[in-house]
Formats: sequence, C-alpha cells, structure tokens
Amino acid sequence: MPILRLISDLLGVVILLGVIYFLGRPIVHGAIYYPTSSRGVERMMRLAAVRPGERVIDFGSGDGRLLIAAARAGATAVGYEINPVLVRRSRRAIEAAGVADRATVRWESMWRADLSQYDVIFVYAFPYVMSDLRKKCFREMRPEARLISNAFRIPDWEPAVEEEKALRYQLPAEVRAVSGGKPGRNAAGATG
Ligand SMILES: C[S@@+](CC[C@H](N)C(=O)[O-])C[C@H]1O[C@@H](n2cnc3c(N)ncnc32)[C@H](O)[C@@H]1O
Repeated sequence: MPILRLISDLLGVVILLGVIYFLGRPIVHGAIYYPTSSRGVERMMRLAAVRPGERVIDFGSGDGRLLIAAARAGATAVGYEINPVLVRRSRRAIEAAGVADRATVRWESMWRADLSQYDVIFVYAFPYVMSDLRKKCFREMRPEARLISNAFRIPDWEPAVEEEKALRYQLPAEVRAVSGGKPGRNAAGATG
C-alpha cells in the first residue's frame, strides 16, 4: 500500500539522519571514538601524577578507561561524552570496576565543562579543536592544573613534558600571573 510505503520511507530517512547526527557530531565538535591504548593510559596517568582527592576531567571520555584509572588513583573523575552509546557503556564499565562513587559520566558536550573545577584535564581530540581548547584553558584552567594530551599538540603552547606520544601542558607563567592564583580568573590573560 502506498501509505505504508511512504511511512517506511520516512522512517528510513529519520533513521539515516539520526545515524548521520550521532556519527557526525563528534567529528564536527571534537573527535571520533578511538580509545587510548592501555599503555597510553599508563603513560597519561604517569604524566598527570594524579593525587588522591584531586578532580580529573576527561574531555571526551569514550568508554571511560581514563576515568576508571583516575578513580583508582583516588581522584574524583568526571567524563563529558557526546555519544550516548559510549555514555552507557562507560557507566557500565565504571560500575563493573567498582569506582562509581568517584567516577561519573555526563552526556553533554565537553565544551560546556567548566575547567576551573579540575586539577587534571585529559584530552584525545583532533588537532583542529586544539586551538579552541587552548583558549578555553587560558581562560579557565586553575593555575596549578595540568592538561595531558594524547598524541596531538596544542598550537602556540609549549608542552612542559613530552613522553612518547603524550604531552603535559601547564599554564604559561604570564597567564597564571593574571589569575592571582585564583582558579578560573585567567580571562585577561587569554591572549588566545
Ligand atoms: C579519541 S576518543 C578518546 C576517548 C577517551 N578519552 C580515551 O582516551 O580513550 C574521543 C571521544 O570524544 C568524544 N567527543 C567528541 N566530541 C565531543 C564533544 N564535543 N563533547 C563530548 N565528547 C566528545 C567522542 O565521542 C569520543 O568518544
């Protein structure tokens, strides 16, 4: 029947648009899902030197592996993840790892996160978002916080430490000075 055919065609179009939306959004806004290897997680954790009680964010948290590692080190870890399938998977992994009291995942764009709340920022994102990330960090990052990037450099910001493919960034002294030591007060120093 033509009406049934029309409904099924429309349904097909809606499903296709949904797939394009869920696959396309991460590409436009940050990165596709490609998890950090186990050795990469160890390396990033080593560079971050996470201490118990610190607050950690994974900027695009995928299956939650960095959140679990940070929570096991005694930190409170928050992941921002745009892909609902990964949000569900990572929440399950966190439960299974027994760290649900210290690790949570928000189904939300990482660009909505307030970086002044965190001591450690993990990121594994496309190079084309790194410039915007630097501007956000220069505005919001706590003076003593560190950002650990897997694989990709941030333009116009020299890493403090490099280990194989991981890089540790800390705020340049001139940006830190503007904040007067107060988290999230770097706005005037965001020369971006
Ligand atoms: C390369 S994966 C890294 C996952 C994880 N951090 C790791 O190291 O294993 C990047 C993740 O960022 C997510 N992502 C991309 N854009 C995002 C955005 N705007 N907000 C939140 N998550 C985003 C993707 O869905 C993907 O899971």
